[in-house]
Amino acid sequence: NKEQHPQKDKKDSQLEEFRVSDAGEAMTTNQGVRISEDEHSLKAGERGPTLMEDFHFREKLTHFDHERIPERVVHARGFGAHGYFQVYKPMTKYTKAKFLQDPSIKTPVFVRFSTVAGSRGSADTVRDARGFATKFYTEDGNFDLVGNNIPVFFIQDALKFPDLVHAFKPEPHNEIPQASTAHDTHWDFVASNTESAHMIMWTMSDRAIPRSYRMMEGFGVHTFRFVNDQGEAHFVKFHWKPLLGVHSLVWDEAQKIAGKDPDFHRRDLWEAIEMGNYPEYEFGVQIIREDEEFNFDFDILDPTKIWPEELIPVQRIGKMTLNRNVDNVFAETEQAAFHVGNVVPGIDFSNDPLLQGRLFSYTDTQLIRLGGPNFHEIPINRPVAEVHNNQRDGYHRMTINRGQTSYHKNSLGNNAPRPVSEQEGGYVHYQEKVDGRKVRARSDSFKDHYTQAKLFWNSMSDVEKQHIIKAFRFEVGKVKSKNVQQQVVDMFANVDLLLAEKIALGVGVNPPKAGEEASGTAAARGAHAQASPALSQ
Ligand code: HEM
Repeated sequence: NKEQHPQKDKKDSQLEEFRVSDAGEAMTTNQGVRISEDEHSLKAGERGPTLMEDFHFREKLTHFDHERIPERVVHARGFGAHGYFQVYKPMTKYTKAKFLQDPSIKTPVFVRFSTVAGSRGSADTVRDARGFATKFYTEDGNFDLVGNNIPVFFIQDALKFPDLVHAFKPEPHNEIPQASTAHDTHWDFVASNTESAHMIMWTMSDRAIPRSYRMMEGFGVHTFRFVNDQGEAHFVKFHWKPLLGVHSLVWDEAQKIAGKDPDFHRRDLWEAIEMGNYPEYEFGVQIIREDEEFNFDFDILDPTKIWPEELIPVQRIGKMTLNRNVDNVFAETEQAAFHVGNVVPGIDFSNDPLLQGRLFSYTDTQLIRLGGPNFHEIPINRPVAEVHNNQRDGYHRMTINRGQTSYHKNSLGNNAPRPVSEQEGGYVHYQEKVDGRKVRARSDSFKDHYTQAKLFWNSMSDVEKQHIIKAFRFEVGKVKSKNVQQQVVDMFANVDLLLAEKIALGVGVNPPKAGEEASGTAAARGAHAQASPALSQ
C-alpha cells in the first residue's frame, strides 16, 4: 500500500495494520478454512433441499443479514477524507495544546462532511446546513472539532434538540420530505421557536447550498476555552477558512444536480483528492479575554450569536490539507465517531447550554450506533496516543490486557496505570468558579432573537437578498398550513419588513401587520426599497 499512500503518518501506519488486500488470495471462511465453491449451496441431491451443515452458506448469509448498522440520527449522509494539520506559529501564550505549538509537526486528521436532515441515501445538494467534523490525532489524544458550515445554531439549549430534529426530519406519518426544509413541521417549529431566526436566515441564504465541500467554511459554533501552561484561560471560537474561497450553487442548479448527480459533493471531493488538488483550510480563532466576558451586547455563551469579526478578528493560525481518500467508506467514514467532548490539555469547555448538552449526546448515540462501549478501538477512532486504563470487557473488546488487576488503586499488580500530574500531561479541568441557584433560565440577552438576524440580512448584497427571498418563497410556499405560513411572515417582519412582505406576496398570505417589525417604520421601509431597486419586484 506504500505507493498508494505516499504521505503516511502515524495514524495511517496504525490503520495499515488493519488493511487487507484480498486480490488473488484463496477465499476462506471467517475461520480461515479455504472455500472450494462459491456458487452453489450444499444440497441433498441436485434438486434437493439445502443442508444445514453448509457452514459456508450459513456464515455468508448470516454476515450479510447483519451488514447494516443504524445510520446517524442526524448527519446521516456524509463523506470523509484523511489529511494533516500544521500550526503556523506557537500558540503557547493562549494554549498548551501540543498540536498548536510546533509548526514543524504534522498532526494527522480525519474529516467528515455531511448534510444534517437527510438519510444516508439522500442527495448532496439539498438546502441544509453542512457538518464539518474534524478529528485531530494529537500526541496528547484525540481532539474532535465537530462543527458546521454555519456559525450559529437553531436553538440555545440542548433540551430542545430532539424537538428541533423531530420537526426538521421527514414528517412521521408519511416520511415526506426526504431532505428538505419545505414542509409544515419545519416551519411550525421555526415560527414557534423564534430563537431560530438567525440560523434560518443563513439556511435560506446561499450558504446552505455550497458549491463544494472544498469551498465551505467551518465553525465550531460554541465558545470554548484555551488554557495555557500557567492555567490562564481565554474564550475562543474556532473557524475553518477554505483557501479556495466560499462559493455556492444557485438554487436552480442545486435542484437539477440533486436529480442528475445526487453524489455531486462526494464525487467532487473524491476526484479532487485523487487528482492531487488537495483541499486546504486555514484554522482560525477568535479570542476573548476572560475579563472581557460581559463587554458585549450579546452573551458570549449564546450559540445563536456570532462574535462579529469586526469586533473580534479571526486570526489564522494554521492550515489543514486533505490529501488521501479512504480505502473503505464503511470501515472509516461510517464508523468514525466524533464527539464534541473529545478535548486535549489546553482546550476546555464553556457553559454554553447547547455545548453542555452535546457533551452527553454523542457517546450516548454511538454506544448504540457502533454496538457497545469499545468503539474507540475501531481503527479509525483509535488515538495515536497510547491508551492505558482499567476499563475492560464489553461487546467487541479487542485489546488483550494482561495482568491480574484491573482496578485502581492496587498493590498486587505491577503493571497498573497511574494518573499523572498536569506537568506530565494529565488533563486538569479549568478551575472556573461556579456559583448559582439551580434554575431553568438563561440571561436576558438570550431573548434577543432578531438583532443578529437583521445584521445578517443587512450585510447581504441585493442579489443575495433576492436569493434569500426566493428561498423563503420556495420553502414556505410548500407549507400546507396557511396559519403556519402567516406566522413565518409575521416572525420575519422582525428581521426586515420588506423581506416579510415579499414572502407574504410569494406564498399568498397577508402582509405582516404594520409596526410588526421591531425597528421598522413605513419610512424605513420606503428608504430600503429605494436603496434596493432589485428587490422592488
Ligand atoms: C452528529 C447530537 C448540535 C454538528 C450528531 C449526532 C448526534 C448529535 C446524536 C450523531 C452522532 C453519531 O451518530 O456519531 C447533537 C445535539 C446537539 C447538536 C444533541 C445540540 C444540543 C450540533 C451543533 C453542531 C453539530 C451545534 C455544529 C456546531 C454535528 C456534526 C455531526 C453531528 C458535524 C456529524 C459528525 C459526523 O460526521 O460523524 N449530533 N448535535 N451538532 N453533529 Fe450534532
